[in-house]
Amino acid sequence: MLDRYNRKINYLRISVTDRCNLRCRYCMPEEGVEFIPHTEILRFEEIREVVEVAAGMGVDKVRLTGGEPLVRKGIVDLVEMIASIPGIKDLSMTTNGILLDAFATPLAKAGLIRVNISLDTMEPERYGWITRGGDIRKVFAGIEAAKKAGLDPIKVNCVIKDDRNEPDAVAVRDYCIENGLQVRFIKEMDLHEGTFGVVDGGSGGDCRNCNRLRLTSNGMIKPCLFSDMEFNVRTLGIQQAIEMALSKKPEKGTVNLQNCFNNIGG
Ligand code: 5AD
Ligand code: SF4
Repeated sequence: MLDRYNRKINYLRISVTDRCNLRCRYCMPEEGVEFIPHTEILRFEEIREVVEVAAGMGVDKVRLTGGEPLVRKGIVDLVEMIASIPGIKDLSMTTNGILLDAFATPLAKAGLIRVNISLDTMEPERYGWITRGGDIRKVFAGIEAAKKAGLDPIKVNCVIKDDRNEPDAVAVRDYCIENGLQVRFIKEMDLHEGTFGVVDGGSGGDCRNCNRLRLTSNGMIKPCLFSDMEFNVRTLGIQQAIEMALSKKPEKGTVNLQNCFNNIGG
C-alpha cells in the first residue's frame, strides 16, 4: 500500500503490552505509569486478524514490541500465529533481553526470525541505574541464548544522550563487534517535545522513507510515532482503521502528547 506521499507501507510494529519488567529512565517515569486495563488489551485472536488484514494490504514485515513483549503471557503462541500468516516474510521482536535466556529457543522454533535487544551501557551498575534495577547479566545470557537459538541478525539498540563517542556507546559498540552483533545507536527522543532523529543503521526517524504503521496494545492503528493520531480497530473495523491511518499519515512527525514509549513501543 502507498500513502499520499507515495511512501510504500509494508511494515507493522505491534505493541503487545504496555507493561515492562524494567523502568528505564528515558522511557518510564519513576512512579510508573497507569497501565491499560486488561479488558482493553487486544486478544491474540484480534492481533492475528489485524495482521491478516494488513498482510492482505501489503504488509510483509512485522515487529513485536512493548513495553516488554516477553512479559505478555503466551507470547510464543502469538509468534507462532503471526509466523503462519501467508505474506509475512519477516517477523522480529524488540526486547530488553532480561527474559530472553528462557525464551530464545521457543521463539525461534515458533518462527521468530531475529531480535533487537536493548543495551545502553556495559557497566552493571550503570545498567542497574538506567533501568532502575535491571541485572545486566541476564541480558548477556539472553544474547547468548539468542545466538544459540539461531536468531539472526541480533541487533543491539543503544540509546545515546549526545553522540556515539560517549563512553557507554563506545563500550557497547566494542562488545558488539567482538560478539558478532549489529549495533544501532538511537538518540534519546522526547515524544512530548517532539525531539527525534534518524536511527543509526535502522529505518526509524527518517520521515521521507518511513514505511511503517503501528498497532498499540489496546487496538489503535497509529500512522506516526510523533503524532497523536490513532484509529481504533475495534470500533472502525480493521480495514477501515488501516485505510484511515494510511490516508492520514503525516509527511513528517511533530509531537505525540498522548503516548509514552512503553505503550507505543519505540
Ligand atoms: N528515546 C529513544 N528510544 C527510546 N526507547 C524507549 N524510550 C526511548 C527514548 N526516550 C527505545 C529504546 C529501547 C526500545 C525498547 O525503545 O531503543 O531499546
Ligand atoms: Fe521497559 Fe524498554 Fe521502556 Fe526500558 S525502554 S522500561 S525495557 S519498555
